[in-house]
Amino acid sequence: MITQIETLLNEQVSYESRASAQYLAMANWADIKGYNGIAEFFYAQSEEERVHMVKLIKFINERNGKAVIPATEKPREEYTSLMELFETFLTNEEFVTEKINHVIFKCLELKDYNVHNFMQWYVAEQLEEEAIARNLLDKLRIIGDDKSGHYLFDRDIMEYQGRKSEG
Ligand code: FEO
Repeated sequence: MITQIETLLNEQVSYESRASAQYLAMANWADIKGYNGIAEFFYAQSEEERVHMVKLIKFINERNGKAVIPATEKPREEYTSLMELFETFLTNEEFVTEKINHVIFKCLELKDYNVHNFMQWYVAEQLEEEAIARNLLDKLRIIGDDKSGHYLFDRDIMEYQGRKSEG
């Protein structure tokens, strides 16, 4: 594997790992606040990011590279509102998308079409995750500070998460 690409993929491992830890902390925050649906949503997101990370690790090693397991920095634990929680989610996903786009740009530049092909799965995942984050933020903007709206929002997410885990 081209060294420069291997370095970028290992950086991507650390971003996925960081996202996984961050979403776990967000799930924890929601759980403590009593937003059970939102907690389930972020517990699941955290798992997904871990899957993204492990998929990259395996790929690097299969391609005769050497995956590096990153140190985990302590994730942010406190949020002032649901809006802030979901804004952070979107910002984080946008950051990851930017990094994935950079890997793809470099793959084309260095003509590594195998990695380019592999990364397409991540592009699709990012599109989906950003769309979910934007959709939820739109709903929160409509709800505003309405407490019963927050209750229904949480319940809707719980139902969505239940349907998703049933497949
Ligand atoms: Fe795997 Fe949503 O970043």
